[in-house]
Amino acid sequence: MAAEPNPVPGAGPPADRLLEVEALRAVFHTAEGPAEAVSGVGFTVERGEAVGLVGESGCGKSTTALSLLGLLPPGTLAPGSSIRLEGQELVDAGPASLRRVRGRRVAMVFQDPIASLNPVMPVGEQVAEVLRLHPGMGRSAARGEARALLEEVGLPRPHRLLDEHPHQLSGGMAQRVGIAMALAGRPELLVADEPTAALDVTVQAQILELLARLRRERGMALLLVSHDLDVVARVCDRLLVMYAGEIVESGPTELLFSAPRHPYTRALLDARPRMDGPQGMVPGLEGAPPSPLRWPGGCRLRPRCPHARLPGCAEVQKRVELEAGRTVRCGRHQALGPLEAPGP
Ligand SMILES: Nc1ncnc2c1ncn2[C@@H]1O[C@H](COP(=O)(O)OP(=O)(O)OP(=O)(O)O)[C@@H](O)[C@H]1O
Ligand code: SF4
Ligand SMILES: [Mg+2]
Repeated sequence: MAAEPNPVPGAGPPADRLLEVEALRAVFHTAEGPAEAVSGVGFTVERGEAVGLVGESGCGKSTTALSLLGLLPPGTLAPGSSIRLEGQELVDAGPASLRRVRGRRVAMVFQDPIASLNPVMPVGEQVAEVLRLHPGMGRSAARGEARALLEEVGLPRPHRLLDEHPHQLSGGMAQRVGIAMALAGRPELLVADEPTAALDVTVQAQILELLARLRRERGMALLLVSHDLDVVARVCDRLLVMYAGEIVESGPTELLFSAPRHPYTRALLDARPRMDGPQGMVPGLEGAPPSPLRWPGGCRLRPRCPHARLPGCAEVQKRVELEAGRTVRCGRHQALGPLEAPGP
């Protein structure tokens, strides 16, 4: 069992490693003081892999997602944070390098589909605008390609849609347009932050199916962010469970469901399918999630954890690797064993 899994120095990333995030720390400077939204997060995404990032509201999911596209306010990422895309460090990349990455190698789909589109520009022009980032793509070729993309994301009558405005679209259609725009740069990694949270349940399922299909057909990697375990489990091979700015458990989706090792993962499983409480809070845990202005000392889950014991849980918990690709951040994981659901 190894503490704080890290790559072997000098060994270089495996050939199919697309993204490698290490020691990611994001601190927002607020009127009430520094808020450490993300505290030393590390994970990898392989080429073509679908990874889910799941946790309660405010745990730092969007901050992590935005950091991958260089979209956090300057100075938010602390020194030592590292985001490598095929070995290229993005944290200290200049604006020109980031522009070459953003929208092309890494693209993002946002939660509010209508708000993320320009209300005064026809849909076709918005998609074509991204396409024209490709060298040598003229106006009419971009319009033709935009139409093909709208068709690929399952929109009916794509030729007519090109000239429509966002307010003429339903939420589900607007999200499909958002996905088409994200695909326009032919990204290797698509980051989708709560892409279905604003949609009704039937449409949610269709959008998730669309993301799963696009990933398969394009061989593109996907980082799907949601507070809803069922949403990420539907599409992702591997999950990262986040709590209070840290990844507390990670591993293959099936294993996290059948034999979770962290009390927080267990609580998320118990909360299904009711993750629709106020701000997506977990009904199975005592109290509310803590604030990044004042994380609890020691294990951050301790004030809410049904398994907490002193003195061990009062110490800062290390992330340990249980087996390749499976990590947990709970010093009691051996004593507790797999946290299977209580019998009927
Ligand atoms: N620009 C900002 N300035 C100050 N604090 C921020 C900023 N953005 C996020 N935060 C704070 O950082 C913490 C993490 O926020 P983040 O949006 O990453 O959480 P999240 O997991 O995406 O939550 P949700 O499920 O509600 O989207 C929250 O406490 C939030 O209030
Ligand atoms: S370290 Fe202790 S408080 Fe933290 S999750 Fe494990 S049992 Fe709970
Ligand atoms: Mg968010």
